[in-house]
Amino acid sequence: MQPVEIMKDIFWVGAIDWCVRDFHGYSTPKGTTYNAYLVKDEKIALFDTVKKPFTRNLVENIGKIIDPKQIDYLVVNHVEMDHSGAIPEIIELIQPEKVFCSPMGKKALIEHFGREDWPFEVVESGRSISLGKNTVDFLETRMLHWPDSMMSYLREQRLLLSSDGFGQHWATSERFDDEVNLSELLGHAAKYYANILLLYSPLVQKLIAKVQELKLEIDMIAPDHGLIWRRNPGKIIEAYDEWSLQKGRNKAVIIYDTMWQSTESMAFAIARGLSDTGVQYKLLNLKLNHRSDIITEVLDAKAVILGSPTLNNGIMPTMADMICYMKGLKPTNKVGAAFGSYGWSGESVKILTEALEEMKFKIVDGGSKVKYVPTVDDLKICEELGRRVGTAVKEM
Ligand code: FEO
Repeated sequence: MQPVEIMKDIFWVGAIDWCVRDFHGYSTPKGTTYNAYLVKDEKIALFDTVKKPFTRNLVENIGKIIDPKQIDYLVVNHVEMDHSGAIPEIIELIQPEKVFCSPMGKKALIEHFGREDWPFEVVESGRSISLGKNTVDFLETRMLHWPDSMMSYLREQRLLLSSDGFGQHWATSERFDDEVNLSELLGHAAKYYANILLLYSPLVQKLIAKVQELKLEIDMIAPDHGLIWRRNPGKIIEAYDEWSLQKGRNKAVIIYDTMWQSTESMAFAIARGLSDTGVQYKLLNLKLNHRSDIITEVLDAKAVILGSPTLNNGIMPTMADMICYMKGLKPTNKVGAAFGSYGWSGESVKILTEALEEMKFKIVDGGSKVKYVPTVDDLKICEELGRRVGTAVKEM
């Protein structure tokens, strides 16, 4: 991949990872990119680096524009290893005059690499530096999604280098939003939001308010993963506003696992009940759907219905995994219900209901529990549960 000039004298110099399929538990069936940006000005600045195995790609891309040793400044918007893995080698190579980072960034860089001797210059929100023609305004975005996270805004170009924010895990030869299918792009961005940023939704709301307060005019958003928002920067900000408000739409997700298809037939009956109310639904068998795709479906749902048979006085391990993941990401403002079959002890529905309560979901009464194989009457009860959930969704 060649470097790409995204604006005059500003270049994408990152790397494309076509092969990564698991990003700390997040499935990435279409790979990802590690974006870094080079600004050629009186002072030459490199914004972020790449994952360590891709250091050569970064150096080669920079080398097609300038001698890497000409770089004056390294700006570290975020210390997570997918952006900082190359830093030790890059600093050794370019010997920068300054390494700009947030206060927490300096601490994290030292804790990662043990190099207190690097020429750090700590910048906080509101601090600006001049590169010559370009002014860089720094905006700390603590816990979006690490304590050190910040964004860099190139004032004259109205370009936001947004670190992980507004990114997507999607490896493509294209670099811009207007070169790909927008619906597919927004789908990848939604998955990224659901899996990385959902639990920080209140902070996303504060960030959007801050951008409005600062009256930041944004012509382009260049994140550290995926495509650059050139034609539609407003579209992704709007989407972040909607996702972070967690209002949801008239949609329910039925997340379940099954042993001998009893719990599955209950899931189908609940879906029939939901269908009667006109609420959209998704049936998500945990053996067939990855947790990171399921949480993406949860993002815009108003109801989460969990189903598991009882296994060894508990629930299916797949469901335990899903609940652990979902609890961490803290979806809010939803109704919940539980169901499941059992043979003798029958704890699963109680365990699932408690998990939903812990996530502060409003429980729809009458979680459905069936011994061995559901009868016709049992399935009618499940259909009724689906109708009650559908009604609760429409009343939200
Ligand atoms: Fe893409 Fe938080 O690193």
